[in-house]
Amino acid sequence: MSHHGYCLWLTGLPSAGKTTIARELVPLLKARGWNVELLDGDEVRKGLSSDLGFDRAAREAHAGRVTYVAKVLARNGVIPIVALISPYATSRARARAEIGAFVEVYVTTPLDVCEQRDVKGLYKKARDGVIKEMTGVSDPYEVPDRPDIRVDTVNRSPAESAAFILQELARLGWPVQH
Ligand SMILES: Nc1ncnc2c1ncn2[C@@H]1O[C@H](COP(=O)(O)OP(=O)(O)OP(=O)(O)O)[C@@H](O)[C@H]1O
Ligand SMILES: [Mg+2]
Repeated sequence: MSHHGYCLWLTGLPSAGKTTIARELVPLLKARGWNVELLDGDEVRKGLSSDLGFDRAAREAHAGRVTYVAKVLARNGVIPIVALISPYATSRARARAEIGAFVEVYVTTPLDVCEQRDVKGLYKKARDGVIKEMTGVSDPYEVPDRPDIRVDTVNRSPAESAAFILQELARLGWPVQH
């Protein structure tokens, strides 16, 4: 029986599928005996990070707060699933260093597909110049060099992506069954 949790950190462009896949993962891990907490970037912004904007310093500060919460959850036996664009490699490296039990999952959806999905209409607004600091358009996304898991959503449904992540976790030696 393992008592320490581990953090699943989903990074990727806006509309890549992070929230959708994270929501598929929650019941799968709960069914395997884990306590799970979804830390979705948008939700955390409403609560912990409502004072922050979208420039680099603000995005790094936001990621830092999420990292702290994920760390305290993981050390208390929970699996925090983070769904956060987290465009900067430094933020993700800091999360890995601070949390320790950390799995970086890169949701690799290409920009053109994300832009077609455009769940929140932000790509359109960015292309129209209505919003600035849009990751992938006017703001950088630093592609992960060596993610632990890469998930391609073009050829997989959200449910298949979640199942694939569990399979990869097991292959990498993370306890999928509590
Ligand atoms: N194979 C797929 N995997 C994941 N999402 C898919 C897939 N096919 C279509 N979609 C759709 O793409 C959209 C992905 O949106 P989602 O909110 O999950 O992205 P996100 O990465 O959380 O974006 P943001 O960073 O803006 O929060 C959803 O509407 C989802 O239904
Ligand atoms: Mg999301």
